[in-house]
Amino acid sequence: MAFDARELRRVMGHFCTGVTVITTRDEAGRPYGLTANAVTSVSLTPPLLLVCVDRKAESHAHFFASKVFAVNILCEAQEHLSRRFAVSGGDKFADVAWRPGGLGAPLLEGALAHVECRIVETFEGGDHVIHLGEVEHAEIHGGRPLLFYQGQYGRLP
Ligand SMILES: Cc1cc2nc3c(=O)[nH]c(=O)nc-3n(C[C@H](O)[C@H](O)[C@H](O)COP(=O)(O)O)c2cc1C
Repeated sequence: MAFDARELRRVMGHFCTGVTVITTRDEAGRPYGLTANAVTSVSLTPPLLLVCVDRKAESHAHFFASKVFAVNILCEAQEHLSRRFAVSGGDKFADVAWRPGGLGAPLLEGALAHVECRIVETFEGGDHVIHLGEVEHAEIHGGRPLLFYQGQYGRLP
């Protein structure tokens, strides 16, 4: 019998993570993004990382089409952005300071760090898809991270 989904979420909630907003854009340059903590550094040579996107997410199709994404690592003052980008659809970027990165994916002002990637492979991952991205540019802006643990936001002491 398959392991219970709610119990899996509860158990994995004990794995403390940072919080990111992963972004992409369409052909016209319109921005899309969602809050994500299923983000992992995979390889240094070549430089690869992966993001997992729910098939039901409205922005899901745009990652497929653009083949690019940016990971915006949120700082502790950006909980409001995490909440905003965790709500499906709508104009999430209204009143948000951002600029397009080198690949066109939005970089959020004030993020602790940005990583820009070109998608090199996409894998099936059950109700999610796994995009493997080759890093083309990354920079640190500094600050303190926003944390997520057992369904709650947190900060470093
Ligand atoms: C802390 C946190 C982490 C999340 N991590 C992910 C994730 O890794 N992948 C994902 O697809 N959704 C994740 N979500 C849920 C999405 O942010 C949410 O479904 C969002 O509404 C999708 O936006 P969209 O439908 O406009 O694309 C997370 C939500 C929160 C609050």
